Amino acid sequence: MKNRFGPKGWTPDRLGSLSGKTYVITGANGGAGFEATRVLLSKGARVVMANRSAKRSDAAIEALRQEFGSDANVSYVLMDLAELASVRQAAAKLLETVPRIDALICNAAIAQIATQQLTVDGFESQLGVNHFGHFLLCGLLFDRIEESDGRIVVVGSNGYKMGDKRILFEDLNYGKNYSAWNAYAQSKLAQMVFAYELQRRVRVAGKNTQVHVCHPGASRTGLIRDTAGRTTRVLATLLSPMAQSAERGSWPEVMCATEAGLQPEKYYGPTRFEMVGPVGECPLEAFVLDPEQAARLWSVSEEKTALSWSP
Ligand SMILES: NC(=O)c1ccc[n+]([C@@H]2O[C@H](COP(=O)([O-])OP(=O)(O)OC[C@H]3O[C@@H](n4cnc5c(N)ncnc54)[C@H](OP(=O)(O)O)[C@@H]3O)[C@@H](O)[C@H]2O)c1
Repeated sequence: MKNRFGPKGWTPDRLGSLSGKTYVITGANGGAGFEATRVLLSKGARVVMANRSAKRSDAAIEALRQEFGSDANVSYVLMDLAELASVRQAAAKLLETVPRIDALICNAAIAQIATQQLTVDGFESQLGVNHFGHFLLCGLLFDRIEESDGRIVVVGSNGYKMGDKRILFEDLNYGKNYSAWNAYAQSKLAQMVFAYELQRRVRVAGKNTQVHVCHPGASRTGLIRDTAGRTTRVLATLLSPMAQSAERGSWPEVMCATEAGLQPEKYYGPTRFEMVGPVGECPLEAFVLDPEQAARLWSVSEEKTALSWSP
């Protein structure tokens, strides 16, 4: 696939001034979200992080102020995607304090949770945090994003094509045959199915919000934690030298939040083995775009989050 950005792919060198723009990023106190914040701040944007830990958010802001000066326009709202009530509170706070949202970057995630855990709302934890939490947040902020002529960026994962390759509507929580890998894969697939369905619904409604989907390839971040099984942790350590930096892992999401002329039904990320290297368009498997599965997931998501949402 030819890279429209040339042999080096998309890089932050393409960014002009982002002064006057506001970006909301979930899970921005570490990993790719933190690095995306750095790139955006370096171009003069305002960034509002939506994080679950005040302590880790304060530490992130301290580090960013050291790098960019005490007037760096960065703040945070507390939000735990594992609790719908917390997402509602954070969305209310954002609507009160953030008058425009040029892009909401749905970056936060948990992965490879070794044993089945349920969120307080009763969802398998990866599906709850990665998909249902973000679905609710996107729905609650949508009108503000639309008024801002803004974007929603969903950070997916190549994991979407490595699990069951479908949404297990009959057992969403993997109560029967739980595996960390399949449950994570389903959660990332759900995020992507939702994103492309949102693209379609926005278009049909004649609205302007852009929705783009990307992935960071294999990046050295904090994603694999002690909640993962031992084999996964060992593998992650062994493979780490082959992965790219968290900074490079952030470029696809920054690109999707800022670059002009991106097309729908595309999937952006590092293009070398879809793991590292120049950022550009990556292949997208057709099953992600299945309209029946997407419509069903949308209804289930509305029901589970108690949000009735027509863009
Ligand atoms: N790294 C990779 O190779 C890779 C590969 C494919 C896809 N991805 C995707 O890339 C994105 C960024 O992940 P990363 O690799 O940068 O991982 P990371 O370093 O673990 O960062 C994840 C962020 O999400 C936050 N988070 C986790 N649970 C949360 C919750 N319940 N509520 C709010 N925030 C929460 C974390 O906050 P805490 O610090 O408080 O835990 C952290 O800030 C994710 O969507 C991931 O699925 C990563």
